[in-house]
Amino acid sequence: MKKLNIKNIFFILLVFIGVSCESETSEDSSEQTPEKDEKELPQEGVIAQNGMVVSDHPLATQVGVEILRKGGNAIDASVATFFALAVVFPQAGNIGGGGFAVYRLKDGQTGTLDFREKAAATAHRDMFLDEKGQVKANRSLAGHLAVGIPGSPDGMLKLHEKLGKLSWAEVLQPAIDLAEKGHKLTPVQVKQINRFQDTFDSINHHKVHLVKNSDWKVGETIYFKDLGQTLIRLRDKKRAGFYDGETADLIVQEMHKGNGLITKEDLQNYQSVWREPLQVNYKNYQLISMPPPSSGGIVLGQLLLGIEEFPIREWGYRNTQTIHIMTELLRRAYADRATHLGDPDFVNVPTEMLLDKDYITERKQNIDFNVKTLSEAIKEGEVLSIESFETTHFSVTDKEGNAVAITTTLNGYFGSKVEVEGAGFFLNNEMDDFSIKPGHPNQFGLVGGEANAIAPQKRMLSSMTPTILEKDGQLFMVLGSPGGSTIITSVFQTMLNVIEHDMNMQQAVNAYRFHHQWLPDNIFIEPNVNELDSLVKLELEDMGHLLQDLSQMGKVNSILVRPDGKYEGAADIRRSEATAEGF
Ligand code: DON
Repeated sequence: MKKLNIKNIFFILLVFIGVSCESETSEDSSEQTPEKDEKELPQEGVIAQNGMVVSDHPLATQVGVEILRKGGNAIDASVATFFALAVVFPQAGNIGGGGFAVYRLKDGQTGTLDFREKAAATAHRDMFLDEKGQVKANRSLAGHLAVGIPGSPDGMLKLHEKLGKLSWAEVLQPAIDLAEKGHKLTPVQVKQINRFQDTFDSINHHKVHLVKNSDWKVGETIYFKDLGQTLIRLRDKKRAGFYDGETADLIVQEMHKGNGLITKEDLQNYQSVWREPLQVNYKNYQLISMPPPSSGGIVLGQLLLGIEEFPIREWGYRNTQTIHIMTELLRRAYADRATHLGDPDFVNVPTEMLLDKDYITERKQNIDFNVKTLSEAIKEGEVLSIESFETTHFSVTDKEGNAVAITTTLNGYFGSKVEVEGAGFFLNNEMDDFSIKPGHPNQFGLVGGEANAIAPQKRMLSSMTPTILEKDGQLFMVLGSPGGSTIITSVFQTMLNVIEHDMNMQQAVNAYRFHHQWLPDNIFIEPNVNELDSLVKLELEDMGHLLQDLSQMGKVNSILVRPDGKYEGAADIRRSEATAEGF
């Protein structure tokens, strides 16, 4: 490993114009609640002994806590929270999408469930390209062709069946009630729903029930009657209530309206998969995270292994060297992500090699990697300009010490914007997470190649990183985030803020974030909230880094086990309505 001399490190800088990530999140932030001043942010999260739920919507958090109070375990509470989010947070909470769950039980057993969407059986590698091999604008982002086979219902069923304590009906009922009896709209929901009225109209062939003649108002009661019925079918018929029978028929009928590919057989064949957690040791901590088809665990593992030797504790978290070294590691890890990662059921993911200590050391020595060629390819592909995106992460712990981290998404806000007529839920636009053409950036500016090319029944690569951390063999932290490509960085930084910079959970979540994903070759920095000193920015620029504002990175809803054994639940309330609640 070369001696660290940051002044001597030379970077090839590429100016990347029109970063989708940036423009989307800028727009994104205007839809969120106003940024809170650093001083207004609480300096400690919610403290409780018997259980904790941290989610993006107060009603979903309440549902989870109620289930814990009733004697449900963390798995029951997670499943209940999941379905509640599908009703009260429909821009990302879902039954028409997918995600990942990571759990650690009270006895130390760990596991993960992959309920990521899959490409339909008739999907093919070039399905988003025209005759000239050019990407057809927006086809992977909006409308019926953008939809992957939903995994969420099967995922929740499997999770509950294996580890839940209460009955399936009990954990589903709160969501059914929210849908059928209605609930009051919050400011963020009102903005999101009003914002997409025209898009819903233009993409759907029927009147979406969220569309009405006048704007929705804060406090107005909204009902999801069709979704309520769909959830009732799921409650009563379990798998057959979604992947077969009426709901499946409605999905297939919807597909026919817009040349979508998903068939009844695709639905019947869908199965979520238990996968061995991705585990990496960092000092006296053990990372338990999501393996492929999420890139989260591997990239996070590479970052932790890479940072271990650097004295970032001494340097501090807003320090130029800390940011510089983390950035250098991020560039390499994201470059590996683009090349090597994909669905492990289809491609050989070299996990061991990527997490091998010698390999990491080797990667750190090499600062002369070839970014130029790939950046040019990105320029040629032109970054897509689409409106926005949303995912949701929640963390749950119970009184026995069971812990669950779940990240789920439709990908974009309301996914493909396609609502299944008569079933009342939105379908994902997860097909955009495939590498639809080598070197062509997806909506997060992420590039990829063969490993993540489209194939029938294949899962698209993800950045979702639900994660649990042990300290000295004991449960220590539960966390995760939305934010597309910035998810992994948000989790990495939040974790280090606690481990290395001695913050409590809430402070770690409140702290400013930055991000680098190899391409584009910028350090994205969150302005305003706990902003970096201008001197640090200047020093980074002096080193050759190109800095760019990115108004929002992640929403890390997390839980820390304090030394006294109590939970500290920290909702990322900087720009959201997330809540932590315990008892
Ligand atoms: O799986 C992924 O990596 C993306 N579909 C996640 C999308 C996302 O986080 C959007 N959020 N803010």
